[in-house]
Amino acid sequence: MKTALILNGPNLNLLGTREPAVYGIQTLADVQALCQTACAAQGFVLDFRQSNSEGTLVDWIHEAGRLQAAGQLAGVVLNAGAYTHTSVALHDAIKGTGISLIELHISNVHAREAFRHHSFISPAAKAVMAGFGVQGYALAIAGLAGLQ
Ligand code: DQA
Repeated sequence: MKTALILNGPNLNLLGTREPAVYGIQTLADVQALCQTACAAQGFVLDFRQSNSEGTLVDWIHEAGRLQAAGQLAGVVLNAGAYTHTSVALHDAIKGTGISLIELHISNVHAREAFRHHSFISPAAKAVMAGFGVQGYALAIAGLAGLQ
């Protein structure tokens, strides 16, 4: 069985209490549970992580690259949080590993502040989704199945 690696960046550990009008009331543990259900439906093993550190996210993308080379990766779903709008390092890591990655945002970043309209992730991503709330994670995992 292939692994679906779900990576969450800064402040996503605060889901549930963080700006609930924007991100909803479900916690990161709730998101992990819905990802577990979605992965079981697709026959994927779930690997679900969160870090507030840019370098840790880069390291995890490198790890995904090694898994992909070994034929064990279904793909990566990345919610890079604010690093989406700032991180050339994440862009380079995705490009450098050649992993199949879906960029995900809980909110519709394009309907928010102008500084959220630019993404360094999008040019390196296979697909982009935004604005479906936390249910977007399940949709992205279904999307990974379509990319196999
Ligand atoms: C986010 C959108 C980003 O602009 C923001 O910095 C986040 C969360 C989202 O899931 O909607 O931390 O990626």
